[in-house]
Amino acid sequence: MARTQLEIFIGLLLVSIAVVVVIYVGFNEENRMAEWTLAQEAGAIEVGADLFEINCSGCHGVKGEGIPGLAPPLSDQFFFTQRLQEVGWEGTLEDYIIATVSTGRSVSTRPDQYVGGGKPAMPAWSQRFGGPLRDDQVHDLAAFVLNWEATALGKAEISELPAPTPGAEEAADPVARGQQVYVRGGCAGCHAIQGISAGVVGPNLTQIGQVAATRQDGVSAEDYIRESVVNPGAYVVEGYQPNIMPQNYGEQFSNQELDDLVAFLLAQE
Ligand code: HEC
Ligand code: HEC
Repeated sequence: MARTQLEIFIGLLLVSIAVVVVIYVGFNEENRMAEWTLAQEAGAIEVGADLFEINCSGCHGVKGEGIPGLAPPLSDQFFFTQRLQEVGWEGTLEDYIIATVSTGRSVSTRPDQYVGGGKPAMPAWSQRFGGPLRDDQVHDLAAFVLNWEATALGKAEISELPAPTPGAEEAADPVARGQQVYVRGGCAGCHAIQGISAGVVGPNLTQIGQVAATRQDGVSAEDYIRESVVNPGAYVVEGYQPNIMPQNYGEQFSNQELDDLVAFLLAQE
């Protein structure tokens, strides 16, 4: 009798130990999973931030604040709390962002406010719809946009996009500095330059250094480029819509920045 009780006791003890071990391991595993998910998410937001600056900021603004006439804000309270209702979208905001970005938008839903690139209002971004981005990149962009929710709802301060810090070599080279201006100025959202940006709203600038010299009789490549940036209405490239390119780069950039930008574009040949 006593022996059976001892066996039961030992049996129970072993089971209890096993349970404790299982709970402990499981708990740690959960922690590990949570840490892993967080790291994944942070990585996605970071990649999304770069993609946004290059492809989207030209129309939606560097902080997603929107650009009047061009494209709506993606970081304001309305977008996070009312936009889905307005368009009658039943799914999540993430799905809405991924769907809209993937397929683009042929016609603006608010043509009186935002025309984007004209037609289409916003080009398709997913490779599945003829755009330049992979699905994982579209997903990372959505993660970046969703990350504005806290600031949109007034729960956190909006923070500056981390500006890439130029190395000493870059700082001394006008062409390298000009590339920074090109990206910061949102040019990349509308123009393609091979290896640098993939915008499709404006002409491809991969060889603009050469092309610019042939555009206007008696106008040098340098003058043509400078004028095209400061006063986009001066020369309109055939087949493209006038009045899409922002008109205020002359005020937005310092003379130095403008010189660097022109040097960078002249070097694209
Ligand atoms: C050529 C300008 C342009 C570029 C570049 C652009 N968009 Fe758009 N975007 C628009 C316009 C125009 C709309 C439609 C606005 C409307 O329907 O009222 C839009 C709509 C959206 C919407 C839906 C917003 C809403 O309120 O319904 C999202 C999300 C979005 N864009 C994300 C992006 C992302 C991410 C990128 C970069 C990959 C990008 N856009 C690049 C012009 C642009
Ligand atoms: C919202 C879209 C948009 C943005 C942002 C934009 N552009 Fe443009 N750009 C266009 C369009 C559309 C054209 C063609 C129509 C025209 O000539 O005005 C154009 C034309 C040009 C041309 C003339 C190209 C040629 O083949 O003759 C140059 C150079 C140029 N842009 C440079 C820039 C630079 C540099 C920036 C950033 C500082 C910039 N653009 C920002 C849309 C844009």
